[in-house]
Amino acid sequence: MADTASAAPTPAEWRAAMGYFPTGVTIVTTWRDGKPVGSTVNAFCSVSLSPPMLLICLDHNNPITGPLKASGVFGVNILPDEGGRDAAMHFATAPEDERFRRYAYREEGGGAPQLEFAPVFVDCVLDSGTIAGDHVIFVGRGVRTEVVSPASPLLYHRGGFHKLPVAP
Ligand SMILES: Cc1cc2nc3c(=O)[nH]c(=O)nc-3n(C[C@H](O)[C@H](O)[C@H](O)COP(=O)(O)O)c2cc1C
Repeated sequence: MADTASAAPTPAEWRAAMGYFPTGVTIVTTWRDGKPVGSTVNAFCSVSLSPPMLLICLDHNNPITGPLKASGVFGVNILPDEGGRDAAMHFATAPEDERFRRYAYREEGGGAPQLEFAPVFVDCVLDSGTIAGDHVIFVGRGVRTEVVSPASPLLYHRGGFHKLPVAP
């Protein structure tokens, strides 16, 4: 039988391989005791068109993992390249109760907090949560989308932030 344990990639090898795949960057928002909470998340993708469903992956220790489960709603704010890097770092590193001090948000019909500067917002109700190693895969059913502007997206690749190349 193959010795899969010793052949398994280390976390550093895994990060290096996965980081080669470029992604966009989002801030996922939800509520904790009626207050907005959010976290920078790039583990996000669309799952189903009809019905509309998407997934995000959150570390068990991510401060919004518990609130998201408890509230049953979450929002995906897709970041623009303009100002997106600062927002991404802020929502990854600032203390939880300071994250929304700098960023205006609104809420519609009992949905999740929508960041005013995000060019695209997707409001979701929680469909399922599946434990996968040190993360939880949360699947959400989209209940509202808003494409506010055609701003260029922020990209993340090999641990760094990038912009879409400008056409010649
Ligand atoms: C570009 C970027 C992408 C991230 N993607 C994820 C992700 O997909 N899932 C996740 O749980 N954390 C992700 N994080 C980390 C969380 O944003 C961060 O751990 C969390 O907000 C910090 O919480 P703390 O105050 O407990 O450290 C990402 C961070 C950055 C900068």
